[in-house]
Amino acid sequence: MRSETAPAIRLEDYQPPAYRIEKVHLDILLDPTATKVTATLTVVGQDGTETGTPLVLDGDELKLTVLRLNGIELPESEFEATADRLEIRKPPATSFELTIETEINPDTNTKLMGLYRSSETFCTQCEAEGFRRITYFLDRPDVLAIYTTRLEALRASCPVLLANGNLIEAGDVSETDRHYAVWHDPHPKPAYLFALVAGNLAQVPDEFVTSSGKQVELNIFVEHGKENLCGWAMDSLKRSMRWDEEVFGLEYDLDVFNIVAVSDFNMGAMENKGLNIFNDKYVLADPETATDQDYANIEAVIAHEYFHNWTGNRITCRDWFQLCLKEGLTVFRDQEFSSDMRSRPVKRIADVRLLKSHQFPEDAGPLAHPVRPRVYHEINNFYTATVYEKGAEVVRMLKTVLGDEKFHAGLDLYFRQHDGEATTIEAFLKCFEEAAATDLSQFALWYEQAGTPVVSVKTRHDPVQQTFTVSLSQEIPPVPSQKTSKPAVIPLRFGLIGPNGDDIAYEAHTGAKISGDVMLLDKARQEVTFNNISTAPVLSLLRGFSAPVRLDQHLSAEDLLFLASKDNDPFNRWQAVQSLAMQDLVRLTALIRQGEQSTPSDDVIGVFGSVLSDPSLDAALRAQALTLPSEADIAQEIGKNVDPDAILMARRMLREAISRSHATAMLPFVTEMAPGGTYSPDAETAGRRALSNRALHYYAVSARDDSTQIVWERFASADNMTDRLAALTLLVHDDMEQKDAALEMYRNRHEKSSLAMDKWFMTQATAPGARTLQRVRDLMNDPLYDAGNPNRVRSLLQSFATGNPTQFARTDGQGFELVAEAVLQLDKRNPQVASRLLTSFRSWRALDPQRSALAETALLRISSCEELSRDSRDIVDRTLQ
Ligand code: TRP
Ligand code: ZN
Repeated sequence: MRSETAPAIRLEDYQPPAYRIEKVHLDILLDPTATKVTATLTVVGQDGTETGTPLVLDGDELKLTVLRLNGIELPESEFEATADRLEIRKPPATSFELTIETEINPDTNTKLMGLYRSSETFCTQCEAEGFRRITYFLDRPDVLAIYTTRLEALRASCPVLLANGNLIEAGDVSETDRHYAVWHDPHPKPAYLFALVAGNLAQVPDEFVTSSGKQVELNIFVEHGKENLCGWAMDSLKRSMRWDEEVFGLEYDLDVFNIVAVSDFNMGAMENKGLNIFNDKYVLADPETATDQDYANIEAVIAHEYFHNWTGNRITCRDWFQLCLKEGLTVFRDQEFSSDMRSRPVKRIADVRLLKSHQFPEDAGPLAHPVRPRVYHEINNFYTATVYEKGAEVVRMLKTVLGDEKFHAGLDLYFRQHDGEATTIEAFLKCFEEAAATDLSQFALWYEQAGTPVVSVKTRHDPVQQTFTVSLSQEIPPVPSQKTSKPAVIPLRFGLIGPNGDDIAYEAHTGAKISGDVMLLDKARQEVTFNNISTAPVLSLLRGFSAPVRLDQHLSAEDLLFLASKDNDPFNRWQAVQSLAMQDLVRLTALIRQGEQSTPSDDVIGVFGSVLSDPSLDAALRAQALTLPSEADIAQEIGKNVDPDAILMARRMLREAISRSHATAMLPFVTEMAPGGTYSPDAETAGRRALSNRALHYYAVSARDDSTQIVWERFASADNMTDRLAALTLLVHDDMEQKDAALEMYRNRHEKSSLAMDKWFMTQATAPGARTLQRVRDLMNDPLYDAGNPNRVRSLLQSFATGNPTQFARTDGQGFELVAEAVLQLDKRNPQVASRLLTSFRSWRALDPQRSALAETALLRISSCEELSRDSRDIVDRTLQ
């Protein structure tokens, strides 16, 4: 018998709760295996709720020990308690106090939701529905309450006791070896923002004075011995706080802001009010163990969680369908922060790469869903690239469409009108409609429709009339579960580039709304004509990636070469280089599959040479332009009947050709670009390291006498993780002679740092070559492998499934089988980690028939499992549908 699919939850079925919970008093006696939770709730019927209306609270694996109503124990006939539900059949009044005592076991909580332990530390994760694993509650985001939390634990093992809000009382419990702390959070919040932490942690203190002069105590709590790894995170926090004041006028609102780093965590981090809890990989850094990318990620995630204090916490979601209300907006805010801290174009390119590599395939496959879904079976499966990344793109388009001023006026209104509320996308959009006196009903389709629109473009220059005409059309390709689609509002930033590379001025035009350098495509087809254009310009469209669409522009190689060297929009310059490479990679892949002779295009090789030594581009931008589209990107572009082996060969062929032509030019970049002196994580220095390592990536396959030696030396002499890992990856992925020695050296050096060892696992799991499969199996039995640690699982298995296309999709089916087995194993322990790993199958139908049949077999095997979690059942059902 097969596990049942959970019932569908639908947006249209939303009903406000019959009762509110105004106050929550929690008394938590911490114990590793038997924690006693006493929750005292002030329950009030909503206007219109009749006396006697049943109160139904959510639970999940709970055991009720005591239940009192207004202080009096409730007879069994008046309630019904199961592990996942507590019903008070007939409350005697519409306002009463409920006292609920439950007992929970943190040590056996392997799902890492609710209260659990990570290396001895007690911690919680309540979003989305984890609070119900602590006590019975109206565990939904539209129930906002004021929380007071009393924690009690052994002083020796748990000297640190933290909860949301401000500390109001602490002391010893007399005549015991226990102590207690009472925390009060004055801001009403939904249960998903509740948190507590208790353990023996080191404290890294700092402080911040807000723009209105309020003193805020800042702390980062980490395992003892890791205090020196918190500097960058603290610095990032203070810069985030200042930036949010300066750019959005938003100040912090409690006396203390605490961050805790734990090593076992399902996601990146969590914005619990006043007590953010982080996956330690987004807190801890030093040059020895963290790469430049890690530093950038820490800065972004610290900012993201901090920014949630307003976008998410002060203003929260009415229901989980509105998840993008907080996530899309907060991702937009953290992207803007990083852009201000670093190079804006480089950040934009990185964000678009992520969008295209994660969100586009999601939107093109069986797991496609609108930015605001209308139905879900398991909400944990909707923390997706679509909700987060596409959600951020939609906010960015809103800014583009309205202009900066009206955008900020709309946001100000949103903060003023909805502070303290649990609200919706409609309410959010209404603020912009009001502030900008405009109608956003068509724009709202971005939240409703799944699928990436394809914008087709044709241009025509008429030398006699001196007109330049742009014909545009838009279409969303078929999405399962979406019958029809309507034309969206697509802001297209553009320029008309004259022969010398300058944008030419355009005045009169007909056919579409154009303001500044943005034209709005808001119909299925549209023709825009520019007058007084004497010579044919090149159209640079979708500058800065102004909308999350695919462009079908058919630019000639000549035009692309022109844009690659002349476009004054750095994003589109990068895009032109990528398009040239992509065209060639697709062509090469097809030839390889047909068994035909194939050689890379000289044009492409030439462009890579000019980019390398173009002084007008900063180093980070050059490094990005010199990065070939990934195997997954190429597969996506090809779209159907995909053969990952042919893609890998094509990509290697082009890389080697670039290397052969430019090895001499590369060498000085390898050696001289690398910054010397003490390590600094700033964007400029990191950019030079990136370019140096990119040059090394090519030089490594140049077959020069010294090429492998130079890689080895970079590895052995590196004084920072960025360089060390870049070289290690080359040694392992290019199967160089010294790879085993390097892996061993690395392991000996970093055995004590689990974050550094995650990189060691990942490097091996992503190595192309038939031997990797056995290697991954062996590594699963390595003493350092830990199936209970999500970071370790992701570094080995997720990276194999998503970062090693040829081995995951092996033609003997063993790659799929390995991942399927792992999913089934993990599912019993941690459904969220298992179902996330399972999504790596999502593009299975795009593979060639042999491979897709093998993938289907693996999926069916998972599907036939009797006791699949709700999370994995949902993903496997949708993936197969
Ligand atoms: N809200 C968190 C963020 O965006 C992410 C999150 C959602 C999460 N669910 C979670 C984190 C479960 C950990 C576990 O920052
Ligand atoms: Zn978030």
